[in-house]
Amino acid sequence: MKVIFLRIGILGGTGNMGRGLTVRWALKHDILLGSRSIERARGIAGEQEKIARGFYQAEIRGSIVGVVNSEAVEKSDVVVVTLPPEAVVPMMTELRAHLHPKQIILSTVVSMQKKKGLFAYAPLLGSEKEFQTNLQLRYFRILLHLYQLCLPFRLCLLLT
Ligand SMILES: NC(=O)c1ccc[n+]([C@@H]2O[C@H](COP(=O)([O-])OP(=O)(O)OC[C@H]3O[C@@H](n4cnc5c(N)ncnc54)[C@H](OP(=O)(O)O)[C@@H]3O)[C@@H](O)[C@H]2O)c1
Repeated sequence: MKVIFLRIGILGGTGNMGRGLTVRWALKHDILLGSRSIERARGIAGEQEKIARGFYQAEIRGSIVGVVNSEAVEKSDVVVVTLPPEAVVPMMTELRAHLHPKQIILSTVVSMQKKKGLFAYAPLLGSEKEFQTNLQLRYFRILLHLYQLCLPFRLCLLLT
């Protein structure tokens, strides 16, 4: 299968989900690991690059660079949102001006809260439609909200 080389910006890439996806995708793509803090982004990007290079050795084709979230948005073909649910609307509203129309946007966000030991669905802003309208993301080619637990596997298939 032919693989298209991409620049992938990961918002909140310093978290559990972002770090896992970063290492996996760096095999074939350039990763811009985003954070609110440039120091944190650079530190974690360095650690993840060591892990990826150690694992893939000479096969690695991509790279991992730590940047602030706005730079991750500006310089990417694909933007992956790996933020906690409550941070999505404020952060995407702040970053909206940096998005451009040809970008693909993926989200790993699972809007669930733990209640009495069980997980319950908690919509971000009442409804998916309202969420998209508020963020004016309807102009972008793809907006995927993937709620399934096997999400990392699905995303890996998509970009490998
Ligand atoms: N972890 C999993 O196994 C898993 C599985 C399926 C789905 N998900 C979903 O994927 C998303 C990410 O999960 P995660 O476990 O990686 O999340 P996380 O580690 O809790 O947070 C990811 C990153 O978001 C940034 N962040 C935290 N609070 C923020 C705020 N108020 N405003 C802006 N940025 C903030 C932090 O980066 P900086 O401090 O560096 O900015 C943090 O490292 C969640 O919505 C979760 O529901 C997770």
